[in-house]
Amino acid sequence: MEEIDTPQEAAVRRVPESRTSGKTWYPHTLMSDLVLYSAHDGIAVLTVQNPPVNALSPGVPEGILDGLAKAAQDDSIGAVVLIGGGRSFIAGADIKEFGKITSGEKKRGVGLAPLLAALEDSPKPVFAAIHGQAFGGGLEVAMACAYRVAVAAANVGQPEVKLGIIPGAGGTQRLPRLVGVAKAVEMCQFGNPVRVPAAAQLGLIDQVIEGDLLQGALAFARSVAAKPVLRVRDRNGKLGTPEVHAAVFAAARAEASKKQRSLQAPLAAIQAVEAAVALPFDQGIEEEARLFEDCLFSSQSKALIHVFFGERTVAKIPDVPKDTAVYAIRSAAIIGAGTMGGGIAMNYANAGIPVLLKETSQAALDKGMATIRKNYAASVAKGRFPQETMDRRMALITPTLAYDGFENAGIIVEAVFEGMALKKEIFATLDGIAKSDCILASNTSTLSIDEIASATRRPQMVVGHHFFSPANVMRLLEIVRGKATSKEVIATSMGLAKTLGKVGVLVGNCRGFVGNRMFGPYRREAQFLVEEGADIEAVDRAMYDFGMAMGPLQVGDLAGLDVGWRIRQEFKHLEIPGVRKPLLEDRLCEMGRYGQKTSAGWYAYDENRKPKRDPLVEELIATVRREAGITPRAIGADEIRDRLLFALVNEGARILEEGMALRSVDIDIIYINGYGFPAHRGGPMFHADATGLGAVYARVAEFHRQHGALWTPAPLLQQLACDGRTFAEFPYQEKANA
Ligand code: 3HC
Ligand code: NAI
Repeated sequence: MEEIDTPQEAAVRRVPESRTSGKTWYPHTLMSDLVLYSAHDGIAVLTVQNPPVNALSPGVPEGILDGLAKAAQDDSIGAVVLIGGGRSFIAGADIKEFGKITSGEKKRGVGLAPLLAALEDSPKPVFAAIHGQAFGGGLEVAMACAYRVAVAAANVGQPEVKLGIIPGAGGTQRLPRLVGVAKAVEMCQFGNPVRVPAAAQLGLIDQVIEGDLLQGALAFARSVAAKPVLRVRDRNGKLGTPEVHAAVFAAARAEASKKQRSLQAPLAAIQAVEAAVALPFDQGIEEEARLFEDCLFSSQSKALIHVFFGERTVAKIPDVPKDTAVYAIRSAAIIGAGTMGGGIAMNYANAGIPVLLKETSQAALDKGMATIRKNYAASVAKGRFPQETMDRRMALITPTLAYDGFENAGIIVEAVFEGMALKKEIFATLDGIAKSDCILASNTSTLSIDEIASATRRPQMVVGHHFFSPANVMRLLEIVRGKATSKEVIATSMGLAKTLGKVGVLVGNCRGFVGNRMFGPYRREAQFLVEEGADIEAVDRAMYDFGMAMGPLQVGDLAGLDVGWRIRQEFKHLEIPGVRKPLLEDRLCEMGRYGQKTSAGWYAYDENRKPKRDPLVEELIATVRREAGITPRAIGADEIRDRLLFALVNEGARILEEGMALRSVDIDIIYINGYGFPAHRGGPMFHADATGLGAVYARVAEFHRQHGALWTPAPLLQQLACDGRTFAEFPYQEKANA
């Protein structure tokens, strides 16, 4: 029979190897289930043990408080070291708790205030010993300590703004006192992490520790413990005055209006730091708490927290467990050095994976390599990385006109023209060349992975890797599961997405997969709206104002109107007679207006790609309306928004019901990372849930009555609306078990 540990034994067993093996071992006491106490020759060590990231979940602050009290009462103790067990110091507040508070499930408690006060007023100086991350509440805890020491590889930061909130435990008040106002504004406004060496230069870290963190922290504590401590709250030297920093705050707000359009939290963060400068510490804390509360209960914060967990949820695939075996991918090969192939090759090179890049002609190969070089050079010119990095990455990409070397590749990604015959020919060839455990991936955006796989004798090794343009920039990777795709190939693909810096989302094999399948109705409705009377700019503006990176017609011009035109021609046989189809983009293409690439599409473009209205397009629209017998009517922004968003949602509901997306959040993550959907709206399905599926269904039904079959409500939308449920409550299992 397996022996079951007492909580105390379990806690001691959780102490990491590095701290128990080969070093003096000190007995631990359990302060709570989550914090351990040990005494090290006059110094108390409090170790937070809340895996995986030591969030400040209920029990952690209490455990630290108990540890501080125990240290205070023990005359043999002169100082306290606060350290994290496992992989980080403290990654912040427990984000799961926020949802409980805003939903009313849990009452808002006193927060971290008692802990911060106890740390700051501790009679024995407290030393925060940081490795991994000190983020959010973690950094705020560290800043309430007397000193902060850290290993060079650690990161510190106030990332709250990415969750739609601001630091809520004094971060906006203590940070400017340590690093100065301008840096504090930047850190709180954008939430990006700061590496420890830089943080040490700023005054946020007192000592960078080389070697073992705990030993270094103990040694540092011994060297300074007797010195008087000035609490961070009392250090006003770097604060200046509101007048001195007026330009800093004005510039930050101007930047927010450009780079953080419509976001509440960045402005609140700036205001909170401004309060640190204008008000005494305690009043500044009150102002921070007020702003924090406003943000916490905002719809933006709920959406951004949904996105935070969503990005982690998509990695979880019910029938592909975490321990599924994966293939080691040490080298790659790409076929086609066009728009997509070149970008995909860059992803591999950026991740340090050598990659062969094959083309059919020297001219195409030279063109592809020149584009890659130009893209890297632009990054070097912008200071994103040094020339050596570019040289190293370029050296990892080997251009070729032959299949030589493909036999060693761990993965081959096909990115040639979109045509089934060509793709099948290539996969049949690969089947004869690739090693048996090589993953064969297609970047097709519309074709069936099963049919492509049928050209091989190893369909289990075939998968879709659908990158988004520009492939070296866009974070989304749709991983398309064919009927035969093996679990190992899926698990490897999901891991590979992470290695390549992408968010991998598993999708089913249907036409357009998830993202493009939904994008079809969205762009169709944009055209219909113009045909019915809406102004082109009004359509784009309505969606831009909603928060989309750009409007649907501008997107068409950017991606190339000819792409859809060609696809429509390829799938003409699928058109249903009598069903309305959009007219304008085909006509624009017939005029040679493919979008930005021809300096003319929905808009006319100057040499700087600035769009402007074009009388020729207005003429075309008037002609098309006349020919189709449409009397133009005035269409407001509300209708534009509803038509476009609910076209996405209605198709998303079908996708969900068919099991082509695992969960509604998978669709949200696809739209945010691949289609410029605003993260602060949480994605189309979250937006629909937040709007209320009853209201969404009513509007879809209204459009159905007005516009016919294309708006037939998805059965799942109808069902959930009737049941008063949400998409988020529709689990994949419900379908799989049905
Ligand atoms: N609260 C709750 N769960 C958290 C968490 C947190 N703060 N941070 C991470 N997790 C969970 C993740 O959801 C994930 O759970 P799962 O395994 O069930 O999917 C698990 O921890 C591991 O996280 P990652 O997969 O992200 O692990 P990585 O190693 O890739 O990254 C990290 C680690 C850099 C710490 C990253 O998780 C992260 O950035 N976390 C969020 C940090 C943050 O935003 N902190 C601020 C919180 S708000 C706050 O502190 C308010 C304060 O001012 C009062
Ligand atoms: P592209 O036309 O820019 O590039 C295709 C390249 O493949 C050309 O350079 C061509 O010379 C090369 N090629 C053709 N046959 C070949 C062969 N037998 N061996 C080696 N090279 C060969 O096309 P693009 O846009 O890069 O598209 C490629 C694939 O990616 C298509 O399947 C497309 O549907 C898909 N895709 C395209 C996206 C886009 O936005 N352009 C987005 C996502 C997927």
